[in-house]
Amino acid sequence: MSQNEKKSLVLVVDDNPANIQVVGENLRKQNVEISIATNSAKSLKIAKTAKPDLIILDVMMPDMDGYEVCEKLKEDPDTKDIPVIFVTAKVNHSDIIRGFELGAVDYVLKPFNAIELQARVNTHLRIQKYLKQIKEQNDELINLNNEKNEFLGIAAHDLKNPIYNISLIAKMIRDDENISKDDLKEFSTDLVITSNIMLDLINNLLDINKIEQGKVKINIEETDLFSILVKIINNFQDRAAVKKVELLFETENEVFVTKTDKNALLQILDNLISNAIKFSELSSNCKIKLIGGNPCKVEIIDQGPGFTEDDMKKIYGKFARLSAQPVGNEQSTGLGLSIVKKYIDLIDAKISLESKVGSGSKFTIVFPKI
Ligand SMILES: Nc1ncnc2c1ncn2[C@@H]1O[C@H](COP(=O)(O)OP(=O)(O)OP(=O)(O)O)[C@@H](O)[C@H]1O
Ligand SMILES: [Mg+2]
Repeated sequence: MSQNEKKSLVLVVDDNPANIQVVGENLRKQNVEISIATNSAKSLKIAKTAKPDLIILDVMMPDMDGYEVCEKLKEDPDTKDIPVIFVTAKVNHSDIIRGFELGAVDYVLKPFNAIELQARVNTHLRIQKYLKQIKEQNDELINLNNEKNEFLGIAAHDLKNPIYNISLIAKMIRDDENISKDDLKEFSTDLVITSNIMLDLINNLLDINKIEQGKVKINIEETDLFSILVKIINNFQDRAAVKKVELLFETENEVFVTKTDKNALLQILDNLISNAIKFSELSSNCKIKLIGGNPCKVEIIDQGPGFTEDDMKKIYGKFARLSAQPVGNEQSTGLGLSIVKKYIDLIDAKISLESKVGSGSKFTIVFPKI
């Protein structure tokens, strides 16, 4: 047993303290913790509160015999899974069978042989430990499966509308024999936009999958934050201009070198800046601030609708479409920030959000010290 591993707790129930002492002495050598009860009522109470890993239960007790105790333990959802070993002086076969029928996992005959007792206790503690591990793993798998089903449902639902639109447009083109060139052009543009919506969703889902499966390679290298920010902000200028959002860049210096993964950084900045523009009102401004020092920071500040307290609890979840809605009909899959958080963790950076409803938002990325 490793030093950090929790000792198993064994409850020994016997009305005769001398018997408890013998069992206790034997088991302490095995490095298990012992709890004792000299009557049935007390044993049921301890079993419920301390939840031992195993109960060694005397059959012959004056107030309530071991069989009855075992029956009560098996009736109670809190104690039904605790394995019970009967200790009995009875050698009658039908008594032993009765114990098994009531849910006991084993029995030991009195007077007991120390090695036999230790071996049986050990076996059942080990089985109990494995059962617990299997149950935990099973619960986790059920949770993951439910989560996957939920995401699949949302993704399927999100794909349904665009597919319906594409089919509708295609039918209109097919059925209109006198379709003009201009109409055809307009329909084709709609088809491209709608297909891109689906592509965005699928690419985001593939991205998440890749990160969650540990398939994204991270290559930490010296990176000039200044030049990356200049490039990415330039790429967003057209999109910002359409919404009359002024995209500003503030920095004290023109060289800021940090160590990070360039692709992860681009994905993070791309989503945060696109969000800042997407959720901003017309004619507002968005500021990207590069703050030097070790560690260095990047702030993305907008004057948009901000996040409610409830939103804040959900922001990095998948398909988290929150209070703010795109102002200019932009696409919103609700996956961007969950991808951001995963990349932030991969590059050992930190992200925080300050926001108030109606007063905009500030996302701060802090890079690891170099
Ligand atoms: N700067 C912001 N101001 C206000 N709300 C925001 C901001 N950024 C994100 N949100 C809210 O958080 C939600 C989740 O953002 P996220 O980036 O994950 O998804 P999205 O932008 O809707 O879609 P996409 O998957 O295309 O990024 C958004 O739908 C929006 O409600
Ligand atoms: Mg987004």
